[in-house]
Amino acid sequence: MSLETDPAALALRAARPTTLCVIGAGYVGLTAAVCLAQLGHRVGCVETDPGRLRAIRAGHVPIEEPGVAELLAAHLASGRLRVTDDVAEGVADASVAMLCVGTPPTARGDPDLRQIAHAARAAARAATDHLVLVVKSTVPPGSCEALELLVAPERGDVRVTVASNPEFLREGRAVFDFFHPDRVVVGVDPPGSAELVVSLYPAAWPRVVCDRRSAELVKYAANTFLAVKISFANEVAGLCEALGADADQVLHGVGLDARIGAAFLGPGPGFGGSCLPKDVSGFVAVAEAVQHPARMARAAEAVNEDAIVGLVAKIESAVGPLRGVRVGLLGLAFKAGTDDVRHSPGLGLATALAAAGARITAHDPLAVVPQMPGLQFDDPYEAARGAEAVVVTTAWPAYRELDLRRLRREMAGSVVVDAVGVLDGAALSAAGLEWYGVGRGRPLGFHPVVTGPLEWALEGEPASGPAISGGPAGG
Ligand code: UGA
Repeated sequence: MSLETDPAALALRAARPTTLCVIGAGYVGLTAAVCLAQLGHRVGCVETDPGRLRAIRAGHVPIEEPGVAELLAAHLASGRLRVTDDVAEGVADASVAMLCVGTPPTARGDPDLRQIAHAARAAARAATDHLVLVVKSTVPPGSCEALELLVAPERGDVRVTVASNPEFLREGRAVFDFFHPDRVVVGVDPPGSAELVVSLYPAAWPRVVCDRRSAELVKYAANTFLAVKISFANEVAGLCEALGADADQVLHGVGLDARIGAAFLGPGPGFGGSCLPKDVSGFVAVAEAVQHPARMARAAEAVNEDAIVGLVAKIESAVGPLRGVRVGLLGLAFKAGTDDVRHSPGLGLATALAAAGARITAHDPLAVVPQMPGLQFDDPYEAARGAEAVVVTTAWPAYRELDLRRLRREMAGSVVVDAVGVLDGAALSAAGLEWYGVGRGRPLGFHPVVTGPLEWALEGEPASGPAISGGPAGG
């Protein structure tokens, strides 16, 4: 996405421009800081990592996020954005401090809130007047209330309140998402005190104003639902493989129902990234803490783990025992458009295949993996060289352009598993490659798994009665 292509969105202005501070310059914080400056606010952005701070001050963006560099340059120049490592300097004159620090999962699956607790306390100590701490990071319900209690003893003289304002930005599309929100969620207690946070955004943006626990749960529930949807699609895909049906067609047909929707309903290698896996396990941890079973979220996790197991089994059934077999992986980033490999299906598959004795070679256009369980190449054909099987694990557009005949020549074998549906099956076959996908059944003969041959149905008279004659049509 080029920013210039969307001048209307970028010309938007906040309902009430103000002075605010953004603490943390990761992909959420830095994106929020530059976009808030674009909306007309004066923003002090606090980053304590010296290397990152130096880079940002020099106009370099340490994350792969289209549009951020342009806005950073524009607002360092306009003076609406300052970057500092000093919370007191960032908070000076600010009426709002946005907490955008990490909440990584602990070994138990619940989020580690230490960074946010430190950031909240530092901001509260630096406040010169009534300060609203706005929590953008994803936190378990109840965290805003807990933070307010934590910072209260810091300041008897000035009021420090805490609001929830979760973000819904996708990595790689964060600037676009910021200016095209489906909704802005603001959680405050009491509900009447939302005005300051609400007015940070343009008045026309859809909003949900609610209590803090509800706002915090919106974020967990939204990411968990996306995960449930992906896992459901992958469950259908598995069923399609077993039945000889085509998951692309089935899920397309399902997704056209406006009540369901096509997004996040594609068959694939499972969900990854820094958010969905973390937030589903956070949702489960939160539920466990209040003795709620969270069955759907657990099922989504379990189906997602099966996705990698299923890919390993598919590769093994195509090439035989994996010990010593060369497998070339195309794609290590958790999705196209990012260099982020956290919980990436490609890396998960590399690890599982290496554990089964396979020798891994891999390529990714952006991601570099220091702890790669195998060799990483800059060129996809080099990653395929000598491989018995090639597996496409990230839907990079560049893989659509692969010269398949060259790929075949580089490979020792002919198996291609396209886990993300970017390759053309007919073109693969024409190049002499064996094509395996996710959710595409091998063409089977007549395979009446449930009914068996129907001759039996013609024996005797059809059953009749209220269930057939009076039941709902097609029910
Ligand atoms: C996700 C949410 O989409 C954002 O709304 C949210 O703000 C963000 O988490 C967050 O909590 O910060 P993100 O992790 O950047 O955003 O990536 P997504 O585009 O949602 O993809 C997540 C995973 O789902 C990827 O591994 C992707 O490949 C996978 N996916 C997505 C599928 O497997 N199938 C699909 O149909 C769609």
